[in-house]
Amino acid sequence: MVPSCGKLGRLELIRHANSVKRMGRTDRMEDYLEVIYELVQQKGYAVSADISRYLGVSSPSVTKMVKRLSESGYINYEKYRGISLTKEGLAVAGDISQRHGVLTEFLEPIGVNKDIANTDAEGIEHHLNRDTLKKLEEFIRIMKKNRKVDMSKNQHTS
Ligand code: CO
Repeated sequence: MVPSCGKLGRLELIRHANSVKRMGRTDRMEDYLEVIYELVQQKGYAVSADISRYLGVSSPSVTKMVKRLSESGYINYEKYRGISLTKEGLAVAGDISQRHGVLTEFLEPIGVNKDIANTDAEGIEHHLNRDTLKKLEEFIRIMKKNRKVDMSKNQHTS
């Protein structure tokens, strides 16, 4: 149950926030799934060396996480064929990838530098409620529409 924020102290709010579970997934697991998703999109498959390169982690770390993701049912791993996403893995990765896109689409137009927007999105993407994401998308739509109006105004006056 979601407690109403107005009546609770800061500590109670912290306790509630930490009780929200995302089906046992960690941020790190989601980052791996996101990278595997991008690699599969580009190459048709993902190998450990590429995951290690794009996430900036050691090869033993990749091995460990690949095992964990495979046991959790998010990826298929065949020793000589590489890594691919299961239906469940694809759902998670697609969702994260979309969140990342929405966040950068929000941050860049308000003046956040592209690199910082990307780095921040990489962190925030794991912690957005679906409703918050929807509201952000709505806000971006309005922002874009207003900017179009502003731009057409400028064209008229200049
Ligand atoms: Co991330």
